[in-house]
Amino acid sequence: MNSEERILRSFDEVCPHELRETFGTPLFVYSQSILEQQYAALARALHNVSATICYAMKANSNMSVLKVLKRIGSGFDIVSSGELQRLVKIEADMSKVVFSGVGKRDEEITLALQQGVKMLNVESIPELKKIDSVAKREGIVAPVSFRLNPDMTHEVHEHDVTGTRASKFGISPEFMSEFWEIVKKSQWLKLKGVSCHVGSGGADIEVYRNVFKEQLKVAGQFKELGAEISCIDLGGGFAANYGGSYTPIDLAKLGSLIESIAAGNEYEFIVEPGKFLVSEAGILLTEVLYVKNNGIRDIVIVDSGMNDLIRPPLYNAYHEIDLVLTESEKPREGTNFVDVVGPVCEGGCFFARNRELPEIKQGDLLAIKNAGAYCFAMASQYNGRRLPAEVLVHQGNSTLIRKRDSIEDLWRNELI
Ligand code: LLP
Repeated sequence: MNSEERILRSFDEVCPHELRETFGTPLFVYSQSILEQQYAALARALHNVSATICYAMKANSNMSVLKVLKRIGSGFDIVSSGELQRLVKIEADMSKVVFSGVGKRDEEITLALQQGVKMLNVESIPELKKIDSVAKREGIVAPVSFRLNPDMTHEVHEHDVTGTRASKFGISPEFMSEFWEIVKKSQWLKLKGVSCHVGSGGADIEVYRNVFKEQLKVAGQFKELGAEISCIDLGGGFAANYGGSYTPIDLAKLGSLIESIAAGNEYEFIVEPGKFLVSEAGILLTEVLYVKNNGIRDIVIVDSGMNDLIRPPLYNAYHEIDLVLTESEKPREGTNFVDVVGPVCEGGCFFARNRELPEIKQGDLLAIKNAGAYCFAMASQYNGRRLPAEVLVHQGNSTLIRKRDSIEDLWRNELI
């Protein structure tokens, strides 16, 4: 490795050292420019298709991030009323919101109907019956889709698999007629679509091709039964660029695949990307507290841990790590194979193991890359650690978009 290779000097034209000065560490930093570029690249790849991008906001639900995406035309994929309430707060267009998830509660379905979301992606027969009863009680017709479980998957970490028969997601095709009978009998259900999502981080176009074809087949069968299917929700999962040996999605190929699927029919298509839109737009800045040697190699101990970014221990995920230098600092001479670990008292609290990095010293600033998706969103206060602050940067300007938790926030709802 060339020691220049893993060095970061600015992020969306902002100096990370200045961010450390102003906001402290650990600090999540999101680039508005990268967010917008990712959205634009996907929109371009789909420009020949009648398609709506519904950002899967579970990946990063900071309202400032949501507002950037809303402003450039994005819809949203939600999985709870908590997420829906965020969209109410930013005044999102509810006609571009789809509601997924296997465990929708009565009050969540109620709120979704009252807010007029585009479609509830139904994941089981009992859920369909529940939606029917809520819709009747509220006097609002529920637009629903059949979330297909196609028994197909990408080769991704087992926790990221959602499309196999054994998984808890979606409905197997053999339940189609039972599903349709319930819809047909009810004046409160309208079957609008077929949806699907087979997992997160998929780059294999052939898997997408097979899944999309299966969806079209199921949509055709529902139409034969008499349903007016107008919408095909293709799901998300498009692999972001995590660097290393990780394969990102080929957008051009994905675009032409969706174009070929769309040719000759009138469906509106929906995609639900999370990672692809926000992963690369984020970095986590963390300071090196100590460097110790365990007799095997150097252990770099930083002030952020699995409580802030849990993806490496949870999914064995790879995140590139850069040494942050100022514009004028010279690159370090050599490189070294090190472990980068956090302070949490678990062997699983690490960011990288045996990773070649430029020479690292106490007090250095490191940037954990691809920290925009499923990082802050999955952060916790484990080990009595405060949730970090979040900053949005754009062409040289920075804005604090979430304050660091205070000490009192650690026990705010406890009663003593
Ligand atoms: N649609 C549905 C119904 C989903 O369940 C998900 C993600 C998405 C869309 C967006 O998937 P994406 O485009 O972000 O891959 N925490 C894991 C990922 C969990 C994904 C859960 N569902 C990770 O960090 O790898």
